[in-house]
Amino acid sequence: FLTGEELDRQELFDLLERAEELKRGRERGEGRDSLEGRSVSLIFEKPSTRTRVSFEVGVAELGATPIVLRSDELQLTRGESVADTGRILSGYLHGIVIRSGSDERVRELAAGSTVPVVNGLTPEHHPCQALADLLTLRERFGELDGLRLAYVGDGNNVARSLAILGRIAGMEVVIASPEGYRIEGGLAELTDDPRAAASGADAIYTDVWVSMGDEAEAARRRGDLVPYQVNDELLAAASDRAIALHCLPAHPGEEITAEVLYGERSAVWDQAENRLHAQKALLERLLG
Ligand code: CP
Ligand code: NVA
Repeated sequence: FLTGEELDRQELFDLLERAEELKRGRERGEGRDSLEGRSVSLIFEKPSTRTRVSFEVGVAELGATPIVLRSDELQLTRGESVADTGRILSGYLHGIVIRSGSDERVRELAAGSTVPVVNGLTPEHHPCQALADLLTLRERFGELDGLRLAYVGDGNNVARSLAILGRIAGMEVVIASPEGYRIEGGLAELTDDPRAAASGADAIYTDVWVSMGDEAEAARRRGDLVPYQVNDELLAAASDRAIALHCLPAHPGEEITAEVLYGERSAVWDQAENRLHAQKALLERLLG
């Protein structure tokens, strides 16, 4: 599961339905034996709060053993290839989740592995986040088909994964970013006008202006993206029922105002919790 394109529409809907079941039945241990006797490694080459904790807890709740590995404790940092690492780990484990600063490295790991590999964030993709986002939208609106989602800001990994999975789900995804910050064409409707994107939208989504790996360009990014802040004025252009989404971590006052982030239309806390439920459904699907 490297980009989300591995799922077709029916598989995606089944997965979201199962995520809802796992969420409802969590207290009574729904899914607790699904992956009994399995082990899953979680490799982090970059920092993480949500992905790290939700995967570790999720694996344990499905009856499997999570093994969290930072790349600096592996021979990876001493030159062992990522493909060899995948091959070795496949002999011990039943699945690998990896967060990396390189999409190419994750593809190489997957090529060397004989067990499923899950992308826990790369510079180009964040498909596990998009699964939780779709779960949140489904909870709020019942159906995904025909929903209009406006992503406003940096056309980054989160934007691309939303475009890919939103399209599979039959949603209308519009992305407003300035020139130089856009994802490739063909995945979503692209514009440079945040108000046009927000117009009539059921959800307004944004993410940080400086992603992991973009630190050297921080000042330029913080200047160029100012007109793309998600604030009350932009939210007013959206549908009356619109919610605000953000994958977190947020920088209130930059890409989103504190009023919107902590306001009554914000669904970001559900969105973060839904990482757990969506990823449990994904792990069941891949390893069950
Ligand atoms: N949204 C998200 O992936 O958060 P973390 O970086 O904390 O995992
Ligand atoms: N776009 C951000 C998402 C963090 C969860 C990044 O890649 O740093």
